[in-house]
Amino acid sequence: MRCCRVVMAVECLLLLALVAALPRAAVAREYAAIFNFGDSLVDAGNLVVNGIPDYLATAKLPYGQTYFGYPTGRCSDGRLVIDFIAQELGLPLLPPSKARNATFHRGANFAITGATSLDTPFFQERGLGQTVWNSGSLHTQIKWFQDMKPSICNSTQECRDLFRRSLFIVGEFGGNDYNSPLFAFRPLEEVYTFIPHVVDSIGKGVEKLIAEGAVDLVVPGVLPIGCFPVYLSIFRKQPEMYGPKSGCIKEMNTLSWVHNVALQRKIVELRARHPGVRIIYADYYTPAIQFVLHAEKWGFLRQTPRACCGAPGVGEYNFNLTSKCGEPGAYSCEDPSNHWSWDGIHLTEASYGHIARGWLYGPFADPPIIGDRQQQS
Ligand SMILES: *[C@@H]1O[C@H](CO)[C@@H](O)[C@H](O)[C@H]1NC(C)=O
Ligand SMILES: *[C@@H]1O[C@H](CO)[C@@H](O)[C@H](O)[C@H]1NC(C)=O
Ligand SMILES: *[C@@H]1O[C@H](CO)[C@@H](O)[C@H](O)[C@H]1NC(C)=O
Repeated sequence: MRCCRVVMAVECLLLLALVAALPRAAVAREYAAIFNFGDSLVDAGNLVVNGIPDYLATAKLPYGQTYFGYPTGRCSDGRLVIDFIAQELGLPLLPPSKARNATFHRGANFAITGATSLDTPFFQERGLGQTVWNSGSLHTQIKWFQDMKPSICNSTQECRDLFRRSLFIVGEFGGNDYNSPLFAFRPLEEVYTFIPHVVDSIGKGVEKLIAEGAVDLVVPGVLPIGCFPVYLSIFRKQPEMYGPKSGCIKEMNTLSWVHNVALQRKIVELRARHPGVRIIYADYYTPAIQFVLHAEKWGFLRQTPRACCGAPGVGEYNFNLTSKCGEPGAYSCEDPSNHWSWDGIHLTEASYGHIARGWLYGPFADPPIIGDRQQQS
């Protein structure tokens, strides 16, 4: 309440009224729908709705084995963060937006594996056109969302009413934008120059959704990529480049960290520009680091960052680029629930469950989607 001492009482009352109005959506389980955007961390099958391409190992068992019993196109052994959130909020699992016979009145999942925040020309201009999939950037996904409107609401007013009662989850985006130069072995200094572009693009995406009537948005940051077997295997470093306790590549985690700081700054800016809109920063980074540093606390084995599903490869990471999870020669560990890393690139259902609960009830979201309601009961 320091504001009361420094501003006029009237202003302070206004502020209090605003603050009191904001947690409206925190009275949860009342969302009409959820609209989700993102990449392979939250793709619920968009890449495979037209059949499973041969090259796509992520659409083969053991993907899906833990929860669905069959591959769904989700890059995990089971549910993703978005699936847990939908279930906790009492909504059905969001159908992939490209599914032809699904109904989208309770929401849709526009996420698609390989998605970037930036559109392909950004990468082409930098000689990186080949390194992006162009499966559907954030802005392409928002176009898909706009194209869907006639099937979920009949008038501008009806659409706005629906979106006002909906939760929008915008990301994670950024991972694939940085993969593009990283996997082309561009110097880290060049990768850093992408950050403002990636973050601006996410900000623009959020504002497009606000313009459509969204008032409750979740914007996730990126994972600590230096802890992931794919990066640990490809980018071998001098011993002093690894965190002594984590075994992660420090400079790669710093890249993720700097992106997340820039994204949080962008969110502060967006909040100021859009009073009455709730914009939540959702943290993938902290829980993932905790899975590594305090594995036992989360029910995971304490070991080198190691994929559950994969084949022996470089180092002890159980990751082999030529024999990835779902490909010949790879196998799943006995118990995915005690591993945080599923395939060396994506997380296990167990991890996603922890992260989703941390976003819903804290401490991994600012503010938590629901708040501490659950913890009190
Ligand atoms: C939708 O289509 C898929 C694939 O064509 C099919 O397996 C599924 O049963 C259909 N669902 C409904 C509700 O018709
Ligand atoms: C749109 O209008 C039609 C006909 O009036 C109605 O049947 C349908 O339920 C409406 N759709 C939505 C999404 O409200
Ligand atoms: C990766 O897997 C391939 C095929 O299974 C195997 O031949 C190769 O030796 C493995 N690489 C490493 C570094 O273990």
